Amino acid sequence: MDPKSRNLTYHHGAVSRTDRERLLGQRGAVLWFTGLSGSGKSTVSHAVEHELYRAGHLVQVLDGDNVRHGLCKDLGFSDEDRTENIRRIAEVAKLSVDAGLLVLTAFISPFRADRDAARAVVGSDRFLEVYLDVPLEECERRDPKGLYKKVRAGEIAEFTGVSSPYEPPTAPEIALPTAELTIEESAARVVAHLREHGFLAAPATDPSTDPSTGESNR
Ligand code: ADX
Repeated sequence: MDPKSRNLTYHHGAVSRTDRERLLGQRGAVLWFTGLSGSGKSTVSHAVEHELYRAGHLVQVLDGDNVRHGLCKDLGFSDEDRTENIRRIAEVAKLSVDAGLLVLTAFISPFRADRDAARAVVGSDRFLEVYLDVPLEECERRDPKGLYKKVRAGEIAEFTGVSSPYEPPTAPEIALPTAELTIEESAARVVAHLREHGFLAAPATDPSTDPSTGESNR
């Protein structure tokens, strides 16, 4: 969708994303956690955040229940509202990646098309889909927020996996069967993937910047 406003000019500063990444010693990226309610998205993403923080990295976690208290508090759980929820998160994540951060998003994000759109917004080379692959029965057994109980009592409509669809990823960068892994094992797999794919090291020197002074050559 084109912006509603006209006469907009995109402004680029002298400091590039590569400069910021070098400062932080990491490559900005989004780890897009997806899975049913109760699959472990918040728990594992916060465990990853903690491990990365201890290793000296700057991480931002965007969590469904938190974001729905502020940025997305006008949205419910219709298909359209979920799509708008994910669209906004993708745009926020993109801004944070531009700041050089490792962004962990923890949203059910049930629709494949919405996740693909998020990938397109962020850029595929910096977007890692992390699928928490857990059967509905296991999520319902855990029921950490007591929501499935309410759903079965008819108190919550349009609940993902029960009365609203969940479309699993077809080719996620990382799959975590959290019913078979400890939280630490899941977090370690994510961190290992980041390390193996070069996200936990500063990028090579940006030719646009003079490394001796840090000043832009542009
Ligand atoms: S999403 O579908 O738009 O990605 P999001 O991750 O932001 O969902 O929010 C899901 C959280 O909202 C769940 O973890 C649960 O705590 C709560 N919730 C409340 N009602 C529903 C519902 N009808 N379907 C799914 N989650 C719900």
